[in-house]
This record gives sequence, C-alpha cells and structure tokens, in this order.
Amino acid sequence: MARVLITGGSGFLGGHLAAAASAAGDDVTAAFHARRPESGPPVRWMPLDLEDEEGTIESVRRARPEIVLHAAAMAKPDDCAREPERAERVNTGGSRAMARACAAVGARLVLVSTDLVFDGAAPPYAEDAPVRPLSLYGRTKLLAERAVLEGAPDTAAARVTLLYGRPAIGGTSFSETLRTSWEAGKTTALFTDQYRTMIGGANLAAALLELAHSDFRGLIHVGGSERISRLEFGFRLAARLGVDPALIRPAAMADFSPPALRPADVSLDIRLARRLFRTPLLDCREGLAAAYPL
Ligand SMILES: NC(=O)c1ccc[n+]([C@@H]2O[C@H](COP(=O)([O-])OP(=O)(O)OC[C@H]3O[C@@H](n4cnc5c(N)ncnc54)[C@H](OP(=O)(O)O)[C@@H]3O)[C@@H](O)[C@H]2O)c1
Repeated sequence: MARVLITGGSGFLGGHLAAAASAAGDDVTAAFHARRPESGPPVRWMPLDLEDEEGTIESVRRARPEIVLHAAAMAKPDDCAREPERAERVNTGGSRAMARACAAVGARLVLVSTDLVFDGAAPPYAEDAPVRPLSLYGRTKLLAERAVLEGAPDTAAARVTLLYGRPAIGGTSFSETLRTSWEAGKTTALFTDQYRTMIGGANLAAALLELAHSDFRGLIHVGGSERISRLEFGFRLAARLGVDPALIRPAAMADFSPPALRPADVSLDIRLARRLFRTPLLDCREGLAAAYPL
C-alpha cells in the first residue's frame, strides 16, 4: 500500500493503472487534463496540465505521492506530427517537470515510454539496442526517457507496445477502434507488413504496477509475448468477437502516407521483464481471451 499518483488517469492505460492500483489497495490520486471522468474506481481526481511545468511540480508537491506512474502524454504519433511544439512541451517538458517534482518530494517515478523509439529495422529490440525514432512522437518520448533517468534518482522508464482491450475508465485502444468500426459495418484496412508485440491494457497495468512497487531502476521493455502483424491480430479479434472477417482488408504500409512515419517491426525483447515480474506477459490468444471474455 502506497500513495500513488497516476498521470493520464483519464486515458486508456492510465485508467487501467488507476483501476489496478485501487484494487490492490494503494491510495490513488489520478490526474486528468481535458475532462474529469464521471465514473470509475474510487480514486481522488486532480487536474494537471503538463504544458505548465511549474504548475505540474506544484500539483505533485500537493499530492505528496510516494510513487508516480507517469502515463500522460500526447500519445498519437499523427497528432504530434501536426502539433510538434505542443508535443515537445507535453511529452518531453512535462516528463522533465515530473522528474524535478519526484526528486523534490522523494517519490519513485515510472515513466511510460514507447517501442516507437526504434526504427523497426532490427527486431526484436532489447533494452540496450540502438535507438532511432522515425517520428517526432518517438523523439519526444526518447528525450522524456533521458530527462527522467537523469532528473530523478529512483526512476524506471518502461517502453511499452501497442495496446488493446476495453477501457477501464476512458481512452481507446487498437482493438476498440476496430470493434467500433466493425459494429458500424465499416471495413478496416490492416497491415500485412507491420508487426508489434502488442499487449492488453489490464495486463500491462498489472506489470507496470509491479514495476512501480519494485526497486528496479533504468530502462525496461514491457509488451506481449507474441510478435504479430496488425492483419493477423485483426483476424484473431474478429474471431473472438464473432465478426465477419470479410470486414478486414489486407493492406501494405506503402499504400498509406500518414502524417507520422511508422516503423515496420518494433517487436520488443521482454526477457528482462519476464525475469523481474510475477505478472505473466500474455500472448495474443491469452490476452484477447482476458480482454474480451465470452
Ligand atoms: N496507446 C498505445 O498503443 C501506446 C503504445 C506505446 C506507448 N504508449 C504510451 O502509453 C501512455 C498512455 O497512452 P494511452 O494510449 O493511454 O493515451 P491516451 O488514452 O491518449 O491518454 C493520454 C492521457 O494523457 C493526458 N494528457 C494529454 N495531454 C495532457 C496534458 N497537457 N497535461 C496532462 N495530461 C495530459 C490525457 O488527459 P485528457 O484525456 O483528460 O485530456 C489522457 O489522460 C502514453 O505515455 C503513450 O505514449 C501508448
């Protein structure tokens, strides 16, 4: 039991973190930015704007956490490409402020980073693999990692992967985007040539909570235990949900030109996390069964 501050509590991962920490008996304060969630687990809500560095530090001082799980970010690569200065302020500046605040109040800090710090050319990626983000989003998160690891003494930076599952409080995930499109009768194009080691939100939250309560410091990779293409994941999700697979159209990355470049294969090597955590890191079959019970 600890006093835990979760940033991005109104988002997809932060919502799962708030639910997991609250269920585990932690004393949870969860931060939102745009809108305070109206339902969810019994947590204390506080407003937070990461673009305001001094305000962020003051908010953390007032919450007096022993542990900060920093999940808030501009998390969509295309949004970051469209608003690069804001993305730098939120993702890098906000993480720098969080590190200063944690150093000042003596809190342990866990930053949620991303597999998109890699260029996708040489998977699977271990923690010491060379980084080369292809997008501004990836660069802002890489600089955030450096800022927290240098700025606060008791810090872990967890690089995590594409998320799936239903929301615990708010936000959305890869699988939910597909499910809502299919429910509306829309066909979705899914890449045959883009691979991830994706993970369910609840599964990742359990692992990150374990990390937060451990004494591990430094970089760690946390993802699912299976490398899978977006197309194959889509077929497995459709089968799980009883959706007609004809609603899935195979596509190649080269057919699209989104605002932010995506790497082809940023599968993570999760051997360190598997050694450290009791929480099992699930493959897609197990993860989809847990996330979408029949
Ligand atoms: N989603 C993925 O597949 C994925 C993959 C790898 C890594 N990650 C990382 O995982 C973390 C969580 O991602 P997610 O998918 O849960 O994101 P999300 O659902 O988009 O949630 C983002 C959260 O950040 C908050 N936020 C945004 N701007 C803020 C600001 N200026 N000040 C304070 N809070 C702000 C949002 O608050 P409001 O909603 O109240 O505005 C929301 O709670 C992020 O650090 C992301 O980089 C995600």
